[in-house]
Amino acid sequence: MDKYVLLRHRDTPDIHKLSVYGEYTALQKAVTTLTPEQVINEVKVSGLRGRGGAGFPAGVKWSFVPKDRLPHYVTVNADESEPGTFKDRELMEFNPHQVIEGAAIAAYAVGATRVYHYLRGEFKSVARRMQAALDEAYAAGYLGQNVFGTHVEIQMFLHLGAGAYICGEESALLESLEGKRGQPRLRPPFPAVVGLYNQPTVINNTETMANVPYILNHGAEAYKKLGTEKSPGTKIFCLSGMVKRPGNYEAELGKISFRDLIFGENFGQGMMVEGRNVKAILPSGASGPIVTEAALDVLLDYESVAAAGTILGSASVIVLDDSIDMVWAAGKVTHFFRHESCGKCTPCREGTYWMEKQYQDILKGKATLADVQLLQDVAQQIIGKCLCPLGEFATSPVLSSFQHFQAEYEARATDAKKVVPAKAASAKAAATPTAAKTADTKAVPTT
Ligand SMILES: Cc1cc2nc3c(=O)[nH]c(=O)nc-3n(C[C@H](O)[C@H](O)[C@H](O)COP(=O)(O)O)c2cc1C
Ligand code: SF4
Repeated sequence: MDKYVLLRHRDTPDIHKLSVYGEYTALQKAVTTLTPEQVINEVKVSGLRGRGGAGFPAGVKWSFVPKDRLPHYVTVNADESEPGTFKDRELMEFNPHQVIEGAAIAAYAVGATRVYHYLRGEFKSVARRMQAALDEAYAAGYLGQNVFGTHVEIQMFLHLGAGAYICGEESALLESLEGKRGQPRLRPPFPAVVGLYNQPTVINNTETMANVPYILNHGAEAYKKLGTEKSPGTKIFCLSGMVKRPGNYEAELGKISFRDLIFGENFGQGMMVEGRNVKAILPSGASGPIVTEAALDVLLDYESVAAAGTILGSASVIVLDDSIDMVWAAGKVTHFFRHESCGKCTPCREGTYWMEKQYQDILKGKATLADVQLLQDVAQQIIGKCLCPLGEFATSPVLSSFQHFQAEYEARATDAKKVVPAKAASAKAAATPTAAKTADTKAVPTT
């Protein structure tokens, strides 16, 4: 593989300028030599999976768009609000033509003449860079009425959101784009059938789109040689937290582990503070179950990470060292979800409120063991009862931190026999698995 499929600006300076990026050869190939069905088939064969979180195959999604109900739309999800995710921003800022070319190919494939990039509200400087690239693409005839002199029309627009995490959820994004309050829609029907302005709409993440020119230029078979059979291609891993060298790193899926990413010479180069160890990893920003140092050798592809009991998601890996109080950390993440819950459905709206309240009490030393148990019960009650995945995301840090660091929770309970500092509690728990039972477990109601 070339060193980079996506972060090409790292070794090609000024690639944000069309004169350096070059002609849109992949788009030209698509509109002048391939039918839309052939383009969809090529992307299907490549196995490209959506990079926005769920990992759904892009070509399969494109094939769901019904042929008869026009107009069709393409929306590029650049909301990028997941904590610890900062890859789409780098792509749009430094390699915008690759994103634009990929989105234009998607538009041709699904018969859409209008493409909207939905950028999070804070991305004002990024939007300026994207707009400059769009202007260049229009001037060169790669966008507009007659793309590459053909009958194909592709108009592309930018839209800045107003800074709500929920607007990254695809149906809330569509509501927001239509000028309404950003709240998720009931599904089915899915956007590919009933999307923007009730018309068939393909929504893909910015990074997903940036993969498409490579697939058309080099062919699906070449793309499939990267990564693993079920997780082909490269992925940008956003590494942050207590590491020496945080940042975006592109690597083939399934070819590096958490350990390589955190400690590798070409990646994070180890812990920020010498002598500290990995205590917890949030593999998917705030949304996925937390794992511990026991997961360090898990390979980074969708299947391997799932087998380790968590999700790869948008691959925003946040590393916490052993100085961190995990009750405090999970409480912070819960605050985020309570703040970002759109309030449309009761289990999420009320549940995130109550979970945050429990954390506040636990952290202030006002909670009993029964309150600690209540926190778990509230989280369990949210699961499977929400309109969109945000509600369930909110339970992940609570339940997984409890699973791995139960002793830290129990040590804070006012009716625990001995209140020990968090770090000592987890060390003690590791040494004696039954340490948590030193507390009066009879006070905990069973469910
Ligand atoms: C609460 C929530 C927030 C999300 N935020 C984003 C986001 O910022 N960017 C993104 O691409 N997808 C986000 N998603 C996933 C989208 O709903 C959707 O699956 C994705 O844009 C589809 O593109 P893909 O198939 O290319 O991954 C979010 C989902 C949820 C439930
Ligand atoms: S789960 Fe939460 S964010 Fe999603 S619709 Fe319900 S209230 Fe809104």
